[in-house]
Amino acid sequence: MQYDASGGGRYDLLVVGSANVDLVVGVERRPGPGETVLGSDLAVHPGGKGANQALAAARLGARAALLARVGDDEHGRLLLASQREAGVDTDGVLVGGAPTGVALITVDPSGDNSIVVSPGANGRLTPADVRAAAPLLAAARVVSLQLEIPLETVAEVTRGLAPDARLVLNPSPPAPLPAEVLAACDPLVVNEHEARYVLGAAAGDTPQDWVRGLLALGPRSVVTTLGAQGAVVAEGHADSLHHLPSPRVEAVDTTGAGDAFTAALAWRLGRGDDLRRAAAFAVRVGAAAVTARGAQDSFPTPEQVDAV
Ligand code: RIB
Repeated sequence: MQYDASGGGRYDLLVVGSANVDLVVGVERRPGPGETVLGSDLAVHPGGKGANQALAAARLGARAALLARVGDDEHGRLLLASQREAGVDTDGVLVGGAPTGVALITVDPSGDNSIVVSPGANGRLTPADVRAAAPLLAAARVVSLQLEIPLETVAEVTRGLAPDARLVLNPSPPAPLPAEVLAACDPLVVNEHEARYVLGAAAGDTPQDWVRGLLALGPRSVVTTLGAQGAVVAEGHADSLHHLPSPRVEAVDTTGAGDAFTAALAWRLGRGDDLRRAAAFAVRVGAAAVTARGAQDSFPTPEQVDAV
C-alpha cells in the first residue's frame, strides 16, 4: 500500500471506521417487538459511520482519507465509488475477508431512525491492518474513530497516532471504553444515549451533568450533541462549559447527521479552531444534514452550510 500525503502535506482528517450499505425504508411508525409494519420502497445508499465522516469532511473541503474494510462485492464497490467521487483518499480501504457491512434503517415521518448493523467486513478490520497502515496514520493531523469496528482495532489506532495528531472519538454504538482510549480523546463526542451508556447510573439528568461526568473519566475534552438543541462542549474542566445552539431547520431524516457533525468538528479542530468555534460550525453542518434524505446524500457543501 502506498499512501501519498505529498504535495500539500498531511491529511486534514483520517477516519478509521466502518463502511456500510444502508438499506432504508420509510415507515409511518417504527415497529415494536413482535410487530410487522409496511413501509416505503427500499432505498439503497452508501453509509457507515466511518465512510460517512470521511465523505462529509471531503464535501466541506477537507483533505480526507479513510482506513476501512469492505467486501469484494457490489456493496463494497458502491462504497468505494462514492468515496472516490467525493475526493476521499481510499488507499487505506482494504477489500475482502467478509461481505460488506449492511445497515437496516427505518425512518419515521419526524425524521427519527432506528438502525441495525451487520458489521461484515468492518468486524475484520484488525489491529494488524492498523499497524500496516502506519504511514497513513503518521500523515494525519486529526484521526477520527467510531465503534462499528472492533474495540482492539480502535485501541491500536490510539497507540499509532503521530505525536502531534488529535484524536476524535464518537463511541457509537456505545461499548465499555478502555482508560487508554478515553485518555486519548480530544474530544469524546457523544449524544444523550451514548453519554448515559458511558456514565451508567451516575449520569445525572442534564447535558451539563453528562459533560462534567464524562470529563472526570479522562478525555481531554467532551462534546455532547443535543439534536435540535445544538451541543454542549467543555475542555479540561467543567468551568469551560459552553452551549452552542442549533439553527432551526425542518428535519426530514436525521440519519448520518451525527457523522456530519463529528467530521466537521474534527476538520475544523485540525485547522486550528478552538473547540467552541469548531463545534459552532459543526452544529450548523449537522442542522443542514437533517434537511435532506439519506446519510451521505444529505451532507452539505460549504455554501449549503452558509445557507442554514
Ligand atoms: O450514523 C449513521 C450510520 O449508522 C448509517 O449510515 C449506518 O450505516 C450506520 O452505520
